[in-house]
Amino acid sequence: TARPVLPPDIRARKRQAPMVVLTAYTTPMARLVDAHCDIALVGDSVGMVLHGMASTLGVTMEMMVLHGRSVVKGCQRAMVVIDMPFGSYEESPQQAYRNAARLMAETGAPAVKLEGGAHMAETIAFLTKRGVPVMAHIGLTPQSVNTLGGYKVVGREGEAEAVMEDARTVEAAGAFAVVLEKVPMGLAARITQSLTIPTIGIGAGVHCDGQVLVVDDMLGMFTDFRPKFVKRFAALGQEADEAIAAYAAEVRSGAFPTEEHSFPDTLAAPKSSTA
Ligand code: KIV
Ligand code: NA
Repeated sequence: TARPVLPPDIRARKRQAPMVVLTAYTTPMARLVDAHCDIALVGDSVGMVLHGMASTLGVTMEMMVLHGRSVVKGCQRAMVVIDMPFGSYEESPQQAYRNAARLMAETGAPAVKLEGGAHMAETIAFLTKRGVPVMAHIGLTPQSVNTLGGYKVVGREGEAEAVMEDARTVEAAGAFAVVLEKVPMGLAARITQSLTIPTIGIGAGVHCDGQVLVVDDMLGMFTDFRPKFVKRFAALGQEADEAIAAYAAEVRSGAFPTEEHSFPDTLAAPKSSTA
């Protein structure tokens, strides 16, 4: 089980036990994710989660390289997938290849993820044929928030067939898996049924081949962001708030530090001497 998971392993997991995916952006979090998950995703959500950005649009290649390296260091078994940031792949297959190769070469990750369905098929095929395994991402694609007009569910009623077509097209182009974000559960089930590559859902219901969440969301690091599709498995934000409040109170009262946390001015005499 020490062998790292690779894209063909993920592809072969279709219709097996659900695959478990979380984001990670740092080495310590990657170690925790690696112990329990199949894939550690270095999402461009890092811009919003760790850098206070209002959307993912300002995330750069440099940020993805830095966080990607950090996560690769923390993973022994889980496969690391790195998001291609906005503006790094949409222009042409050549541009996408140059930047995907840089992400892989400078981090050691074996795969990238990019947003877009039918219109990215040519790029997905170009990358896949040249040694860059691609995870596709369809449904809600946050880098297109300005054309979509918000972070709404994608694929209801008249939109459903377009999302199904995106799924079929990215599979045909060679993607080894596809993320379905904020897609109605019935449609996600139909897509999962139709494809031979695994679907990994976020806000896409239980019938996907795997699930992904932003790790800080499921750990409850934030108190002000509670989307319907996130289940909180902990309340670390509240715990951190209480710990920081206790530290502040103890520093102000002089209760911390005590002798226990301080260094004496003289060393104790040696206990015995054999000389
Ligand atoms: O950036 C990200 O975290 C993602 C996942 C939510 C799929 O793309
Ligand atoms: Na992303």
